Amino acid sequence: MCGIVGYVGERNAYDILIKGLHRLEYRGYDSAGVALVSPSGTLNVYKAAGKVSNLENYCKDKDTTGGIGIAHTRWATHGEPSDRNAHPHFSEDEEIALVHNGTIENYKVLKDALIQNGCKFQSETDTEVLVQLIEYIRTHNDCTLLEAVKEALRQVVGAYAIAVIEKNRPDTIIAARKSSPLVIGIGDGEMFLASDATPIVEYTKDVVYVKDNEIAVVSKTRPLKLVNLNNEETSVDVKTLELSISQLEKGGYPHFMLKEIFEQPTTLLDCIRGRVVNEGKDIIVSGVLDSKEKFMNAKRIIIVACGTSWHASLIGKYLIQDMCRIPVEVEYASEFRYSNPVLDDRDVVIAVSQSGETADTLAAIQMAHDAGAYVYGISNVVGSSIPRNTDSGTYIHVGPEIGVASTKAFTGQVMVLTLIAMAIAELKGTMPKEDLIKIGEEILKVPDYVRQTLELNEQIERLSLIFTYAHNFLYLGRGYSYPVALEGALKLKEISYIHAEGYPAAEMKHGPIALIDAEMPTVIIAPNDHLYEKIVNNVQQVKARHGSVIAIVTEGDKEIRNIADHVIEVPDVPECLTPIITSIPLQLLSYYIAINKGKNVDMPRNLAKSVTVE
Ligand code: AGP
Ligand code: GLU
Repeated sequence: MCGIVGYVGERNAYDILIKGLHRLEYRGYDSAGVALVSPSGTLNVYKAAGKVSNLENYCKDKDTTGGIGIAHTRWATHGEPSDRNAHPHFSEDEEIALVHNGTIENYKVLKDALIQNGCKFQSETDTEVLVQLIEYIRTHNDCTLLEAVKEALRQVVGAYAIAVIEKNRPDTIIAARKSSPLVIGIGDGEMFLASDATPIVEYTKDVVYVKDNEIAVVSKTRPLKLVNLNNEETSVDVKTLELSISQLEKGGYPHFMLKEIFEQPTTLLDCIRGRVVNEGKDIIVSGVLDSKEKFMNAKRIIIVACGTSWHASLIGKYLIQDMCRIPVEVEYASEFRYSNPVLDDRDVVIAVSQSGETADTLAAIQMAHDAGAYVYGISNVVGSSIPRNTDSGTYIHVGPEIGVASTKAFTGQVMVLTLIAMAIAELKGTMPKEDLIKIGEEILKVPDYVRQTLELNEQIERLSLIFTYAHNFLYLGRGYSYPVALEGALKLKEISYIHAEGYPAAEMKHGPIALIDAEMPTVIIAPNDHLYEKIVNNVQQVKARHGSVIAIVTEGDKEIRNIADHVIEVPDVPECLTPIITSIPLQLLSYYIAINKGKNVDMPRNLAKSVTVE
């Protein structure tokens, strides 16, 4: 998980590094640290448990001068979050400092060997092994830092993005990656590196995405050099960043999460722009066109994802099955990768991931590739690992999502899955064109429907006050609304720490109904779809047990409004588009409940925005 930043140039590195760490805090925030070479040639390492602001306080009376440095915000995998385990880690001789994102799987073997050779460790992390190994190789082989890093990485099994500096070379950072993201920014007489482009964007638009097994020599005086572990130089492919600073800031909202919820009319417009054309009559998804043969001949589609992306994928299953009549399975990437799946070259695997960096999802696509399946990616982050490691794909184009709780990415993913299903249905002829056109026309109105739904903000804020102190919540839905129930429950759990369960409404009577009493609020997602009458019964079943019901219904609803305790009315849309609309009140409800409880919604405890470790 974690975020790394590096700078070498003429400016004061500390300021750039701290600002960069704040931008990367979504990746982890249980400790932070910085290493700087001062103009007098000292290698200073400062670290503090907790958020980046703690590090800033700690550094107030320290020497933070110097034009070269590396920094880290951690999400611990090995060793508790503490000052000692925070990065950067020092080599024993205090000549080298290193930051790392990832996990070193064979750290134990390497550590034991180093200890036998007299090396002393300061932390419990897997990472420290790397810096000690580099020092050991450098001193025993009398070689350069670059040579030592290369040799150390040859011995390492695991995932890493690293940045290393040494006291005696205050003009160069050595960086490398395997399975964890790393971007280098090229400025004029200065260079930047980071886990993603957000710390770099205000200084330069010229970036290089480092590839697996590449080592970068990042220097202020020489052009960027990339080599692989076999010492061969690899090409430097400079890309132009399309990311603006205003996209990264809160724009007047108190939290990124609220800003991102309110951005959805715009983000959905960006998502459909150029894809729903000719007044809704045609759907163009270039990734699907590029993969035409594969989708036409697919005997099965398997969607792999984690968390919220998995919920969007479940909606994708209903959409693709309904519209394209192709069997679809949805798998948690973390289970799929270890489940010995039966796959072949007529399977299409779709990987859905906001960040494009989720380790389990990346491993699942690697596995699918190895089995000969065609792999399609749906991601938000341009240039991230999933789009770079899939055969084809579609970006959701919703802009950077900073709040740890995913909101606009979810609706963007569902929208893209809808468009993909429609594009395949058109290719296969599994839906009448006039039905596709009707949906296409409605999709063009979705940004407005979402805008209308957001007008419920104040009603939901008031409603949240009634439920802030509930200890448990049940979320129920059927058909397309079942994954919405799962997503609603996840949103509440992750930011308010209230236990919530999402369930298919009809399954309730097979167990969870036992939980229902006057203390247990139930949120029922009940738009006017083909299962409406069925879900009315489920509402009755909850009410008969004195449960309190909050129902999300379609405007003009007649039946449920007479039974439920609270109704939230959303615009009427075709059944396949209901998840995009009904999920919005649930995002707001969880936001306000968490705010009422005084929780940090943008950075909930124990979570990180992208889970780049197993
Ligand atoms: C969403 O609110 C979560 N924080 C989390 O479940 C997330 O969706 C999951 O980690 C997958 O991330 P990805 O979409 O970047 O792969
Ligand atoms: N494995 C390292 C640690 O525990 C880095 C973790 C990360 O990438 O989040 O410190």
